[in-house]
Amino acid sequence: MKLNKLKIGKTQTPGNLLLAPMADVTNLAFRLLCRQNGADLTYTEMISADALLNENRKSHLKGLSSPEDRPFGIQLLGNSPEKLREAALFIEDEYRPELIDVNMGCPAQRITGTGCGSALLNSGKLVYGIISELTDALKTPITAKIRILEREEETLEIAHLIEKAGASALTVHGRRAEQMYSGSSDFKTIKAVKQELSIPVIANGDIRDEESAESALDFTGCDGLMIGRAAMGNPFVFKRIRHYLETGEKLEIDMQARQLEDFKNYVALLEEYGLCSSTNLRTHAHWFTKGLRGSRQIREKVNNLKDGKALIELINNSYQVK
Ligand SMILES: Cc1cc2nc3c(=O)[nH]c(=O)nc-3n(C[C@H](O)[C@H](O)[C@H](O)COP(=O)(O)O)c2cc1C
Repeated sequence: MKLNKLKIGKTQTPGNLLLAPMADVTNLAFRLLCRQNGADLTYTEMISADALLNENRKSHLKGLSSPEDRPFGIQLLGNSPEKLREAALFIEDEYRPELIDVNMGCPAQRITGTGCGSALLNSGKLVYGIISELTDALKTPITAKIRILEREEETLEIAHLIEKAGASALTVHGRRAEQMYSGSSDFKTIKAVKQELSIPVIANGDIRDEESAESALDFTGCDGLMIGRAAMGNPFVFKRIRHYLETGEKLEIDMQARQLEDFKNYVALLEEYGLCSSTNLRTHAHWFTKGLRGSRQIREKVNNLKDGKALIELINNSYQVK
């Protein structure tokens, strides 16, 4: 039995499998689906503090969460301690998430060019300033998600500052920002961070199946695992990993039937929460039908469908499922 409980702030979860924040992926419907499949804690995609503070904030927050979406964290993006505090206070008041996370890892040029995401890691002073501003002003526990730095000592220094500033947990993606998604996640550095900190440390990067999950937990000794890309179109990965960590055995399943079931559930949830129009259905259909025969026809037809019900009908007709 390797599935341990996780406690961050006052939130205790029965297991330690987290869904990573992913832009254009981890919308409310997808988070609910991952939860049904065994994710213990989920994060929204990053939300810009600037966007939250402008007048159109309602459009950024449409369908952000629901009462079933618990426990969850909202991830904020920004580089001004004051603006992040204001945005976080608004979020705390409006949504009462269990956690508020600060994005300190996004390597995309359009984000780092404005001094946000992984660019924050260039200044320990700013990292400390942001986290302490938030922990001083909010009741909600604050977490941070970082990438590793060139040298292990630099990563440890940032991790210590985040802890010292009052963060309740830290997620470490074991790649440097310059790597984007190339190379592999460096679990050695993640392990070093875990050994140094007292707050929960979550390992992230390249956890994609039963074996990688088990070895990441064994090797790093981390308190939890955060899963990103492996869950795209495949929320069932949580059930598989969970089962394996609990029993040491792999689930035997008909993957095609499972994928279609999850896809239909996903579309139904998008429809229920009014999220079809803000979701790129073609891309999501691509992920959910990966490896299935006839998936190309689904992707080709999806743009012409008028709503989620029509998409579910197309899936049923294409695969003769009830
Ligand atoms: C499409 C996509 C969008 C992402 N968006 C975010 C984001 O909004 N915030 C964030 O902290 N990380 C984001 N990430 C990074 C993931 O949270 C995660 O750290 C990374 O994918 C490594 O984990 P994995 O190997 O399990 O995918 C994103 C990754 C992908 C692939």
